[in-house]
Formats: sequence, structure tokens, C-alpha cells
Amino acid sequence: MKELLKAIPPGERDGRIAAQLDPKCLPAHVAIIMDGNGRWARQRNYPRLLGHKAGIASVKTITEACAQLGLEALTLYAFSVENWKRPRHEVEGLWRLLRYYLRRELPNLMRNEIQLVAIGRLELLPTPVQAELQYAAEKTAKNRGMRLNLAINYGGRTEILDAVNAIIENARAEGNLDVLEINEEAISSHLYTAGLKDPDLLIRTSGEMRVSNFLLWQIAYAELYVTDTLWPDFTRTQLLEALLDYQNRERRFGGLSRNALPSVDGASLLLEEEEALELPLV
Ligand code: FPP
Repeated sequence: MKELLKAIPPGERDGRIAAQLDPKCLPAHVAIIMDGNGRWARQRNYPRLLGHKAGIASVKTITEACAQLGLEALTLYAFSVENWKRPRHEVEGLWRLLRYYLRRELPNLMRNEIQLVAIGRLELLPTPVQAELQYAAEKTAKNRGMRLNLAINYGGRTEILDAVNAIIENARAEGNLDVLEINEEAISSHLYTAGLKDPDLLIRTSGEMRVSNFLLWQIAYAELYVTDTLWPDFTRTQLLEALLDYQNRERRFGGLSRNALPSVDGASLLLEEEEALELPLV
């Protein structure tokens, strides 16, 4: 948090928003569905790829701000398993942009101590893209700051399938298949995000109310924040506003709100509820 305040020039609005945040209640992990690059381009009569190129500037700004805030992890949805359905020209352009981003941003990732990891079915990516991702991951592996997950050729369902198949494969290799019982902990520890906390906050830009096969297991209790802002227009200000909104939420994880908890003792509460239900307790 201190790093972020240092980076904001005095008198800027972002400084005033950041000052309202409680540094002790920041999300540990933020996940973002970066949507709206195409619409941003269409509004300007630009080709779609220019929208994606403009999206890279937001990736840089938001990643840097999250690292300066001291978040543990940021996961960005860059390419889904479904995105192969787009025209070949757009898909190939996205690979070119990703390689350009990785080369250009490596010094900034190092300066901000960010550890970059690509998650998804990476073996299906073009070889030069795999090589560039591996190079950036190796170079940043020892960084001790925020973990940046780039979800590429990623699908929430395929991730769960990969986890379950890996568990089965391990059990088979160890000769334990006949007694195998899969629990939640086993699945979590075989996901691409193993070892990381689940996202506390899922942001989606450009207004669609969907989760689009993103981190399906991990977002079970995430707070959702959807903004109409298109991804290339999503700035540090919008990020800070999303965090403020998050801090005003009450997270109950399936329990009760503090206001809804009984103030009377359990026995009289049971009686009261029985009367209200007009049903005998069995
Ligand atoms: C969704 O917008 C965006 C994508 C499918 C790609 C996201 C890519 C970037 C932000 C740039 C490259 C990424 C990195 C990490 C360097 P859309 O095309 O679906 O927009 P639309 O819904 O308005 O058409």
C-alpha cells in the first residue's frame, strides 16, 4: 500500500481514493476478466487488434498498481479455451501482442518483484509463445512480490478435469486407485493455482454478467464486481474504486451477518422460532 501511495503524484484523485482504503482489508487475490477490447476498437472505427493493443496498457497499469498495493496474487484472463473460435488473424495477432508484452514488460516485472506464471493448457500454444512464456517465468521465478497469473488457453472446466485426472494418475502410479477418495483439498492442490489463496474479488469489465468459464472452482466465495468500463479504459482509478466497493461488502462465506446473529440465548431463540414457524420441533 505504501508503495502505491508513493507512486501517486500529490494532489491526484487516486491518492484521495487510496487514502480511504483500509490496508488491512485488501483482497489477497484479485482476478480480472478483461473484456471489451473489441468494443473499444469499434467505437473508434479501429481494427479489433488495436483494441487488444490498447488493452496491454491497462494490463501494465493494473499489474503495477496491484503489486504496489501489496496484493499476493493477480490473475488475468488473457485467452480462453473458447477463444480459438475467433478469426485466425485475431488469434495470431493476440500471440504477437502477448510476445511483445512479455519482452517489453520483463524489466518492469523485475523492478516490481513480480513473479509471472502462465496458467492453462499451455502445451497447445504456438511454440514461440510457449518459449517466451517460459523465459519470462524463469527470469521472474525468484521474485518475492506479487504473483501474476496470465490465464492463457485457460478454461475453468478443463482445469478441474486436469486436476481430477492428475489425482487419478498419481493414485494409479502409487497403486492406490482402488481406495482413492477425492476431497476438496485434493482438487484445490492440483489446480493451476495450487498454493495460492482463492480470489477474494473477481472484476469483470464491459458490463457482461457472466463468469465465462473463469476460475470456476476458485471463485466459490469471491465478491463480484462488474463495471461498464471497457478494459482499455480501466485505469488505476477504476481499480481503486473496485477495491473500495469490495471493502464495503460483508463477506459471510455461507454464515450469517453479524446483525442477524441472535442476541438472546439459544434455548429461548429455539422457542421463539418454533412459535414463529407454528410447527412442533421433532
Ligand atoms: C476480451 O475482449 C479480451 C480478450 C479475449 C483478450 C484479452 C487480451 C488483452 C487484454 C491483451 C493481451 C494480453 C496480455 C496479457 C498481454 P473482447 O475481444 O472479447 O472484446 P469485445 O467483447 O468488446 O469484443
